[in-house]
Amino acid sequence: MRKRIIAGNWKMHKTLVEGLELVEALKAGYIPDDYYEAVVHPPFTLLHEISKALEGSDIKLGAQNLFYEDEGAYTGEISPLMLKDAGVDYVIIGHSERRKYFHEDNDIVLKKVRAALRHGLKPIICVGETLEQREAGKAKDVVADQLSILRGISIGDMEEIAIAYEPVWAIGTGRTATPELAEEMHKFIRETVAGIFNRDVANNLPILYGGSVKPNNVFDLTSEEDIDGALVGGASLKVDSFLSIIKNAARNII
Ligand code: PGA
Repeated sequence: MRKRIIAGNWKMHKTLVEGLELVEALKAGYIPDDYYEAVVHPPFTLLHEISKALEGSDIKLGAQNLFYEDEGAYTGEISPLMLKDAGVDYVIIGHSERRKYFHEDNDIVLKKVRAALRHGLKPIICVGETLEQREAGKAKDVVADQLSILRGISIGDMEEIAIAYEPVWAIGTGRTATPELAEEMHKFIRETVAGIFNRDVANNLPILYGGSVKPNNVFDLTSEEDIDGALVGGASLKVDSFLSIIKNAARNII
């Protein structure tokens, strides 16, 4: 059975006090099970303290980004070594907001994925098309191009990787992809990965859906055969909604 993940991407939200409050409440309400791994991705400045707060809990810690060098004169950047030092397990790479506002392209995404793997961090690689690209009938071409970076990764490292399909038009808009539309793309992603590596690698790959995931739509989304969890933005900022998403995620897939 492949791994399933519900990850909360806090983006640029929460001071330390607010972040600790949220994590303490999550710890109190989270019931660990064998179905979904829960991960929180706070901003960099909170990582050390949240890591301490999560000690002894089953909730994992993730970062939202990293730089691809270990150290050096890169003002303002955070290296994979620093993330390891902060107790981080997962790292989101290539989020559409990074691609859009910080001009991250496939080359940068691949360098970041390799840097994460080099230090034992688990990359959650984001892919997804804009509305314009979807309307032009190019959604699959765009996603295939974003997935092409996997050709630069060894087959053994694929065990550490998760993909998040996040249609840009669904992020923060309240406009979720229908389960059928999301499933179609998830299946396409799995087929593409099978083509790059093999069927086993594709079958073991967790593919998360992201884009306006809420407590009331997560069950239908995760009931789809190829949707193995969710990357949640806005609804991960409140304890009740994030816990409900974890609780409501479907448990009926073998
Ligand atoms: P959203 O964000 O749930 O607020 O749409 C998802 C994401 O960008 O990861």
